[in-house]
Amino acid sequence: MNAMTRLATAVSLVSLMPLAALAGEVEVLHWWTSGGEKRAADTLQKLVEDKGHTWKDFAVAGGGGEAAMTVLKTRAVSGNPPAAAQIKGPDIQEWGALGLLANLDSVAEQNQWDTLLPKQVAEIMTYEGHYVAVPVNVHRVNWLWINPEVFAKAGATPPTTLDEFFAAADKLKAAGFIPLAHGGQPWQDGTVFEDLALSILGADAFRKAFVDLDEATLTGDQMVEVFAALNKLRGYVDADAAGRDWNIATGLVINGKAGMQLMGDWAKSEWTAAGKVAGKDYQCLAFPGTQGSFAFNIDSLAMFKLGDAENRKAQEDLARTVLEPEFQQFFNQNKGSIPVRLDQDMSSFDACAQKSMADFKEAAGNGGLQPSMAHGMAASSYVQGAVFDVVTNFFNDPQADPKRAAQQLAAAIQAVQ
Ligand code: BGC
Repeated sequence: MNAMTRLATAVSLVSLMPLAALAGEVEVLHWWTSGGEKRAADTLQKLVEDKGHTWKDFAVAGGGGEAAMTVLKTRAVSGNPPAAAQIKGPDIQEWGALGLLANLDSVAEQNQWDTLLPKQVAEIMTYEGHYVAVPVNVHRVNWLWINPEVFAKAGATPPTTLDEFFAAADKLKAAGFIPLAHGGQPWQDGTVFEDLALSILGADAFRKAFVDLDEATLTGDQMVEVFAALNKLRGYVDADAAGRDWNIATGLVINGKAGMQLMGDWAKSEWTAAGKVAGKDYQCLAFPGTQGSFAFNIDSLAMFKLGDAENRKAQEDLARTVLEPEFQQFFNQNKGSIPVRLDQDMSSFDACAQKSMADFKEAAGNGGLQPSMAHGMAASSYVQGAVFDVVTNFFNDPQADPKRAAQQLAAAIQAVQ
């Protein structure tokens, strides 16, 4: 090697050093493990790796995230939390109160999160006025997914009211299809219950029940009606539903065995991954009776305090990346959600995402935004767990009495407060 080459080699090594010195590892706990969800998670991993960091995947399977939260608590208790974890809604406050979350204010300031994010969203991401989490997306929970080919074969019409919904279910059943693809897991039972509650109670009473936890609303006649509707709905679910994962249920609709699914728009990630086109191969309708309301579920990554400076840099780069337009587009197109940045160009998004964004903006303007109880946006995980217990026990017992269930609901919520 001559002197010039030696010098050039030395210079290029030196110029590489700042990157190497600043490259860290970022461990991310999440539950995005279905085929469609994984495609979305991979987009984040790639963007973080492109910045020179190492991604350590900490995926814990289990829809709705209950298993992931249990694992996270164990890791945190042993003093070894991951750099980032999928933590949502009021739970962010609980983790903040433990003093474990990192301050992201400098990243937020540099990247103007305050102007990019809707105020309501920014509030959820802050603890005592400081950013401790970054929002990834906005999911809508009150969707009904329909296979139009199955509907046509059964002579059923896409429903806009609860009565029409049950009428369509009858036609699907008579034609030999599974009317409603469902997985018998507490969080899925809770999701269906939430849709029925929003439809029957309406927006104001929904909030009173699941945000204010108002006893009179929880035990009132309309709540009894909600349980009665859940009882009726059980008759349209197939016998093999117990324990079935949500994405397997989505698969039944995609493959034409079932006609409908009530699920948040992460279900769309499976349709997208299967190469199906929104508005043609499948339809997304606001759940009958909930038009005008948008039950929101915002995924967010909360950041834990870290000792190592390089890992801290990787963590900040992760937080920064999540709100960049590139990530917002690729991730959300794969995930089924819409961008949390309201200035995002939606022209390359599909028909369901465009409808979702339009409905989100409209609901934001007229009080129609409702925090999802089933997805941890309305109340703490303790309240959510209490609701799931009552709803699942009711759903699994054909003899259960709706009036008694409403009273049990109020009592169970009271017990965990
Ligand atoms: C999460 C979604 C996830 C879904 C199914 C929801 O609670 O917010 O990101 O896709 O659960 O696991």
